[in-house]
Amino acid sequence: MTRFVLAPLADFTDAPFRRLCAEGGADQTYTEMVSAAGLAHGSSPTRQLLETMDGEGPVACQIFGSDERDVAAATDIIQRTCREAFCELNLNAGCPMTKVVRTGAGAKLIENPAKIGRLVRAMTENTDLPVTVKTRLGCRPKENAIFEIVDAAEQAGASGIVVHARYVSQLHSGPVDLETLAEVVRRAHVPVTGNGSVTGPSSAAAMAATGVTAIMVGRAALKEPGIFRRLKSGEPPTPPDVGKARELFMRHLGLLLKFRDRLVERFPGCRIPSADAFAVLKMRTHLFRYFSGCPGAAAMRARFGTVRTLADGCRCVGA
Ligand SMILES: Cc1cc2nc3c(=O)[nH]c(=O)nc-3n(C[C@H](O)[C@H](O)[C@H](O)COP(=O)(O)O)c2cc1C
Repeated sequence: MTRFVLAPLADFTDAPFRRLCAEGGADQTYTEMVSAAGLAHGSSPTRQLLETMDGEGPVACQIFGSDERDVAAATDIIQRTCREAFCELNLNAGCPMTKVVRTGAGAKLIENPAKIGRLVRAMTENTDLPVTVKTRLGCRPKENAIFEIVDAAEQAGASGIVVHARYVSQLHSGPVDLETLAEVVRRAHVPVTGNGSVTGPSSAAAMAATGVTAIMVGRAALKEPGIFRRLKSGEPPTPPDVGKARELFMRHLGLLLKFRDRLVERFPGCRIPSADAFAVLKMRTHLFRYFSGCPGAAAMRARFGTVRTLADGCRCVGA
């Protein structure tokens, strides 16, 4: 049976959100991308991105970088300090954000499959965790780099490939190229995970028809962390419901506070924001998706933008 996994989403897929998705049926989740250079140079905020919490289920850790020494050092740090927290180590070779690409990492690597191979080797030589690569089909349509990337990654010891079935030039919109993805599945010697605009049973079925072993869901999970269970059962979405959105909000809030306590305990010398600041800031990024389509959602979002305390935040959503 096809597995359903949560995509890495910078600023979103922290431990509390991953746990919410695990509770929603995700078979595996990914951390947000973690800077290899940041880890290698001892940055505490970067190190905090590696923290997990109880009940998360299998978590893969994604790193990004372009320097083989940094990637090797970051892998070694993960192997020595928190190896047991993760089921897989993943290299980001697909992020198109300027701040990532200009360092030679993320999508920039697609121009140089041999370099992807060298970075994968720097990882496989420093961990006994399975190493995978998340990438795209190529830089632009009709310029497929994916077959060379798969070859280079396999030769360097990669155990799997995650393919966002779009080109870098498309960023995050436009059609997914499932035909090319199916060709990747046919040619690869390792399991392939497919990704790109899976939002419901029909897009999941189309993706599954390519033969991928797992389907990765990103943006649709931000609105509905329980989407994984729904995709498995084939159920259609339920209409927006304020009561359910409030319940999700409170569950997420509880997990955030628990996770903050863990950060305080694990990073005694570091300034962790107060519970009010920590939770209000995070919930601001999630709230409007949970309540989207509910009556009064826009006004609630505007009001939530001004709250400073958890108590006011809960009042704002009527909890
Ligand atoms: C807000 C946001 C943050 C993302 N962060 C990452 C990241 O940290 N690492 C990564 O490999 N991809 C990242 N992506 C890409 C997603 O993992 C995924 O490939 C993309 O959203 C397509 O899947 P979807 O259509 O299911 O959302 C990000 C995408 C978005 C929208």
